[in-house]
Amino acid sequence: MNHPLEPLSAGEITHAVDLLKQAGKVTPTTRFVSVSLKEPPKADVHGWDGAKALPRRAFAVLFDNATNTAHESVIHLTDNRLHSFRSLTGVQPTMTVDEQVECEQAVLRSPLFREALRRHAGDVDPALVMVDIWSAGNYGSEEDRTLRLARPLCFLRRDATDNGYARPLEGIRPVVDLNRMEVIRVEEHGSWPIPESSCHYAASRIPDQRRDIKAIDITQPQGPSFTVEGRTVTWQNWTLVVGFNAREGLTLHHIRYRDGGRDRSILYRASLTEMVVPYGDPGPTQARKNAFDVGEYGMGMCANSLQLGCDCLGHIHYFDADLCTSRGEPLKIANAICMHEEDFGILWKHTDRRLPDSPEVRRSRRLVISSVSTVENYEYGFFWYLYQDGNIQLEVKLTGILSLGSLPLGTKPPHGVLVAPHVYAPNHQHFFNVRLDFDIDGMANTVQQVDVVADPPSGSNPFENAFRARATSLTGEVMARSHLCLETGRSWKIVNPAVKNHVGDPVGYRFLPGDNAFPFASPNAWWRKRARFVDHHVWVTPWHEDENFAAGDYPNQSAGDDGLIRWTGQDRPIENTDVVFWYTFGHTHLPRPEDYPVMPTAYIGFLLKPSGFFNLNPANDVPPSPARKAGQGCCESPGETKGPEATILLGVPNRGG
Ligand code: NI
Repeated sequence: MNHPLEPLSAGEITHAVDLLKQAGKVTPTTRFVSVSLKEPPKADVHGWDGAKALPRRAFAVLFDNATNTAHESVIHLTDNRLHSFRSLTGVQPTMTVDEQVECEQAVLRSPLFREALRRHAGDVDPALVMVDIWSAGNYGSEEDRTLRLARPLCFLRRDATDNGYARPLEGIRPVVDLNRMEVIRVEEHGSWPIPESSCHYAASRIPDQRRDIKAIDITQPQGPSFTVEGRTVTWQNWTLVVGFNAREGLTLHHIRYRDGGRDRSILYRASLTEMVVPYGDPGPTQARKNAFDVGEYGMGMCANSLQLGCDCLGHIHYFDADLCTSRGEPLKIANAICMHEEDFGILWKHTDRRLPDSPEVRRSRRLVISSVSTVENYEYGFFWYLYQDGNIQLEVKLTGILSLGSLPLGTKPPHGVLVAPHVYAPNHQHFFNVRLDFDIDGMANTVQQVDVVADPPSGSNPFENAFRARATSLTGEVMARSHLCLETGRSWKIVNPAVKNHVGDPVGYRFLPGDNAFPFASPNAWWRKRARFVDHHVWVTPWHEDENFAAGDYPNQSAGDDGLIRWTGQDRPIENTDVVFWYTFGHTHLPRPEDYPVMPTAYIGFLLKPSGFFNLNPANDVPPSPARKAGQGCCESPGETKGPEATILLGVPNRGG
């Protein structure tokens, strides 16, 4: 029996598309922006017995290019009918992958663009021009409000397969009406040099590669320790559902931990809700550069098909992603999600010096569930980790190619860094927002802000060494808006006030932030109006069905002030209720020459740690791994007598059976 939170299957997506067509809601100019699961009511999922399927529904976002109108529809798949259909004017849904491709072709065939290209680059083959669709944003103009626009960036390859990003066409900025799929003008900004070198990174272009690397193979002769049924994954004590959709990409659902024979709920839903990359160069060719990669591009739409041995190493279980094209045709991204186990060093260790021959040490192992998206020049990897000690971690991996500009020789960019002659990378930031719908042992939870404070000197603190954790229960949305604070080592704790652990405290999970940043652009900057979620690192809301995206449902070309800033302005009570914890985390990227031509991965994320959720170290029962002799590899090294347990690289002893 499939879990009710599983994403729509290919068949269900086609069914939804067919029902919309049968209802006369699809014209030749209609695009399907997304068709995803409309999740069943939460109480139904918590009460689901696994015996009878819950009704399946789809949520579709459509856009009609002829009328510049968006439509939202909820479709009852089980009952074969449209439940609702409403039209929205004045919003621009996510640009579809089809529009990316069509926009490039529209620019390349445009006479306006060809003339501008000739003026800037001479007589070059237009087939060597790369056109990356970039969102237009909203800068207060009439066309920003009334047209569906893109402002692509263009680059000139030397040949058909080299690194075109190394050669920006800085001086020309086409503006494309995506409804008519036509260049409406080309903005020209004077003459700029086109860098000479393509500075390669493709293996076929790097003849002198290092030769001193020997293979690392990860083998699990007994297979992995997880089981998969549909999209439900069970791994040691963990159970969860792996989701995916066109907008958010990878999502995790209904995360539970088996403790003392009970499946205890922790997180109901975890998702990336938005991310924005604002650039910090005020120059005329760069000032409009920012990208909302979830709301404007669709992180799931941009997901890669992952490859064994390259993206993923070990015993991998892949999940495909079923989406649809903008015309409603099935679109399968094979191997969009990778799941595997990783050895993660030491889980815990102690040597009793009176018993030196029996140190107690355990290997840590984590379950990795990941997906990688390519948003034009940049790559984002989203890696969720579950650990044996109850920890849950998100690590975002940033890699790919910097968004580059060109400069005359001898010029130093004040708002960026030269990475090669004529080539510079503007300073920028990456802000992510993650929505964590906690259900710690039930739906009614409270968020506490925990600050560590020193006791004042007093008779009861004679050596002035005392400090304590001060937990403040957050009661309202406005109060809950807050920033990280290094001075107080601020963290947050999500507790269930009604469920006490064995020492009488409410059970909870602690939220531990990682690296973070403040935005450097002014609050008046155009992009910040649309990204008010960067105003605070932490936000807490009471759960609401329609509140899923930190910058609002339609940030593309929006006027702004939507999403978290608007909802939390209501200052609704958030204590002892179904709370949602939102975290904004930023990476300030001052580029380096070493980020060129392709950027070594940078990492950012956060950690969730059980804090009074369990009665003791939940990994106390992890058995020791078998000891091996130095130099002994796995499986078949000669002269060693081993049981099957010794052949496992990622292993626990085989305890009979
Ligand atoms: Ni960056």
